[in-house]
Amino acid sequence: MSDLSSPSSPAPSPTGKPPLLEVRDLKVEFADADSVVHAVNGVSYTLNEGETLGIVGESGSGKSVHVLAMLRLIPMPPGRLAGGQVLFEGRDLLTLSDAELRKVRGGSIGFVFQDPMSSLNPSMTVGRQIMEPLQLHLGMGADAARKRAVELMDMVRLPDAARRIDQFPHEFSGGQRQRIMIAMGLSCRPKLLIADEATTALDVTVQADVIELVKELKREIGMAVIWITHDLGVVAGIADTVQVMYAGRVMERGPVDDVFRDPRSAYTLGLLRSLPDLSAPIGQRRRLTQIDGAPPDMRAPPPGDPFAPRNRYATPRCFTEQPPLVQPPGAAPGHLAAAWYDLPALIAAETTP
Ligand SMILES: Nc1ncnc2c1ncn2[C@@H]1O[C@H](COP(=O)(O)OP(=O)(O)O)[C@@H](O)[C@H]1O
Ligand SMILES: [Mg+2]
Repeated sequence: MSDLSSPSSPAPSPTGKPPLLEVRDLKVEFADADSVVHAVNGVSYTLNEGETLGIVGESGSGKSVHVLAMLRLIPMPPGRLAGGQVLFEGRDLLTLSDAELRKVRGGSIGFVFQDPMSSLNPSMTVGRQIMEPLQLHLGMGADAARKRAVELMDMVRLPDAARRIDQFPHEFSGGQRQRIMIAMGLSCRPKLLIADEATTALDVTVQADVIELVKELKREIGMAVIWITHDLGVVAGIADTVQVMYAGRVMERGPVDDVFRDPRSAYTLGLLRSLPDLSAPIGQRRRLTQIDGAPPDMRAPPPGDPFAPRNRYATPRCFTEQPPLVQPPGAAPGHLAAAWYDLPALIAAETTP
């Protein structure tokens, strides 16, 4: 078992520095009168300074809940932290005082979530909304904050910023509002940017622009990024590391190229095989195969590998015992998977007559 898989011994960064972020065995539940939804079931990973982590997985796999829980943005109740630690620069965000947490959130950690219309305040000019974190976190005066807000709007390529800074959110298009959210997320030059489906609602060209912008900013300010998306193509374009989540767990994780070329979890393979065939002419690009079946009912998660009921490669053990997240034999360094079966061997056996 590789020590990379152990939550207590995180992957050292190439520079030998401790990781920027270390999530340890995070568990989040939602309780109502007669049931408990086990939304996040022991997620552990590390993120180094400057690293970009792409997180993928079907809807409902716990991607949003786990980052919201890290930032303590889950309403409790109905939410409940069932365990874990989230060490950011060595301090556990889950036990910081509210005052300390506010300094981190929107300060050294910026975030951009889907749906800018509900995240932006409709009755406040965009300028004031961009200025607010600058005044709160960086202690800037109004004039300096306003000047910086114009620069930020220029940076996310919102034209005519000096004039438009005094407009309200509804005066901008959806794509422009998302850029405003990104400007706010980046305003304090965070060490970590968390983006959850931040470009999903945008059309393809605007999406490509925003991704280019985030890459530029990464080069410029060296921030780390957690980029959550259901789009594997976006992950291939932006991320160093990809993490595949299912049923509130990490199923596979590793360098993007290794995971995409040599998947070790049948769930990852299913996601990759469900991509449209890009070699076909536009208009004839069909999804090759869908993953049959539905995710488990998270009120009663299965005892073993949660993907087993949908996995034609599953062994009896998959149904009874949870596989640990470890480096499979022959996988690249840092490539981890939670699987009792040997996927490359099973695929080879299928294709050999
Ligand atoms: N406020 C809530 N109350 C009850 N269940 C919730 C709540 N928010 C999320 N969940 C459940 O938590 C699980 C994970 O959701 P989420 O993290 O939003 O998935 P995704 O991977 O699509 O972002 C889902 O089963 C979802 O139904
Ligand atoms: Mg989500």
